[in-house]
Order: sequence, then structure tokens, then C-alpha cells
Amino acid sequence: MTSKNIDNLRDSLLSKIESAADLNSLDDIRVSALGKQGSLTALLKGLGKASAEERKPLGQAINEAKVKINNAIAIRKEFLDAQALDLRLASETVDVTLPVRPEQEGKIHPISQTIDEMVAIFCEMGFEVAEGPHIETDFNNFTALNIPPEHPARQEHDTFYLPKKEDGSRLVLRTHTSPVQIRTMLSKKPPIRIIVPGRTFRADYDATHSPMFHQIEGLVIDQSTHMGHLKGCLIEFCRTFFGVSNLPSRFRPSYFPFTEPSAEMDIGCSRKGGGLTIGAGEDWLEILGCGMVHPKVLAACGIDSNLYQGFAFGLGIERAAMLKYGIPDLRTFFDSDLRWLQHYGFLSHDIPSVARGV
Ligand code: PHE
Repeated sequence: MTSKNIDNLRDSLLSKIESAADLNSLDDIRVSALGKQGSLTALLKGLGKASAEERKPLGQAINEAKVKINNAIAIRKEFLDAQALDLRLASETVDVTLPVRPEQEGKIHPISQTIDEMVAIFCEMGFEVAEGPHIETDFNNFTALNIPPEHPARQEHDTFYLPKKEDGSRLVLRTHTSPVQIRTMLSKKPPIRIIVPGRTFRADYDATHSPMFHQIEGLVIDQSTHMGHLKGCLIEFCRTFFGVSNLPSRFRPSYFPFTEPSAEMDIGCSRKGGGLTIGAGEDWLEILGCGMVHPKVLAACGIDSNLYQGFAFGLGIERAAMLKYGIPDLRTFFDSDLRWLQHYGFLSHDIPSVARGV
């Protein structure tokens, strides 16, 4: 290698750079000179073979050539960039009079919306959200809730059972959110104030029943909570949820194995003219089941029923959403029809603020 070699290579590269027609060919030149296999890189690698006194001046010359080439590339790049921009500006035009492209905005499913609304209302009353698994033990779903073996809910045609395990026990897809009452009472000491939104499963399918549906459960356990609190809490909830401040309501005696006494809550409505208006008229509409937690349920969870008491309630989320938002068929919730979702869905800013992030 001689300094002449270096000068020649440098000059030939500089002239190529100056005449590079576009950014791509400029980059090809850069790689061919300075890349791993580049010609200038090869010279640097070859320095080792030069004699000791040549090495320094040759090395210097190569480095100077490198600086020159890098500078030349930067200058040419700037020029070609500007040229490319000029070209684009000349060829592209923006028609500012065109209307904006319609943007499809995602929608919140009415079930999610309704859960968020309910959670927001109960959280403001001091409830905490609790959750549990969809696959439950027979104990949590039935036995601990005082549901006897002969209870119709346990029958094959109402409950989805998983295959029997070796010990003969069978897990179930939870038929209600009530097993989360049991889970909570087994793991936490009173006072307890929880709401449990979640999926539930029953072998049922028609316009008002789906094999998978949603419930929200409530449970309050402490030393002094009584039926008056139950009524006050649920009346307040229904008034807020349906947005009717003087919503009429009544509690009818009913039966659930896990509450005593048990009740069903109705709200006032009108069915005049084929429609349904909540809060007006003389008709009644059943909205939820509730009652005072049965002492046997407390005992199953190791809670002393002489010291503690409380109430529980449960309601169907689809049904509440159908009533509030006028959705006629329950099956449409799960059809995944985007046109339906565009119509019945909610924009993200419709989510009640208290529920954000829950
Ligand atoms: N678990 C009941 C159902 O699924 C609802 C309910 C919950 C009733 C809590 C009373 C108390 O129908």
C-alpha cells in the first residue's frame, strides 16, 4: 500500500459521492467504502502489513481520507434530501377542502357499561369489588349456601357440571355469583362490604335466557346491619341506576336457601301502549333477589351468627341493561354483531368516573 493508492481511492470515492443521483445510491457508496467489507476499511485492515515507519503516515492518510469522505457524504445527503423534498412538494398537493375521513370509534359493550355504572354506584356507598373463578366447587356454589342435594338447581339440566374427578366430586360452572360470598367470608373477617360482578352459567337458552350471563352480587356482614339497611341500600341503588329519584319500589316475601327472610324487589313501571317505562304507572317489575344472610351460611363460613349478621342481594346484569337501555333480545348481547355494538354501545367517555380503573 502506498499513499498514492490511498489518494486514488479517496478521489474516486469523492467523485462517486458528488455524482450520486439519489439517497439509495449514496448509501450504497457509503457502505462500499466504510462498511465492514468496504474498500477504505480494507486499507485500514491492511495497515498491519506495512512496515513500522510507514504505518503512521499511511494510517493518518487513511483517516484523513475517511473524514473527507464522511463530510462529502453528509453534504451530498443534505443536497439530495432537499431535492427529494422539493420533488414531493412539487408533485403532491393537499386538497384542504376535502371532508375528513370518517373514523370508526370503538364502542363499550352495554354489559361492560352497565357493570361500570353499578360498580360506581355501590363503590360510592362504600362497597369493594370482589371476584371469584367461573369454575367452582360444589361446596361453594351449593352446599355452603344451604342449597340441599335435592334442590332443583343442582339438576343436570340446570347446571353445567365438569366431568367427575377420581374422588367422585364434580366441579361446576358457577350458577350464580353467590359462591364469592362464601370465598370472601372464608378468607376475611367481618365487617364485609363487597359487590361481585361476574359471569354465571346455566343450561338455558331463549330470548330472555342465555347459557352464559352476568350477575352482580352484594354482601354486607357486620354486627348491626338489618333489613332496613338492605332496603335503603337497594332503593338508593335502583333510583340512581335508573335515574328516577322517586322510583316506587316494594319488597315481596320470597325464598332463597341462603337468606332468611328472603325478598324480591319490584320497581314501579308502566306497560301502557306496549312499551315499558320505568318509574311511571301502577305496574310492578321484578328487579332483584335479596335477604338477610342465613345463619347456616354464616356457620358454614365459621362466622358466629350470634355476633354477626347482614344482607345479600343478586341481580342479572343483562336484564338491568335491557330495561335501562331498551334492548329487546338478550341473545343479541353475545352475537358479536358490530352494527349492534355501534348502535347500543357507549363511547369511552360515557364510563362513570368513579368506575374508571376499577
Ligand atoms: N343467587 C341468587 C340467584 O342467582 C340471587 C340472590 C343473591 C338472592 C343473594 C338473594 C341473595 O338467583
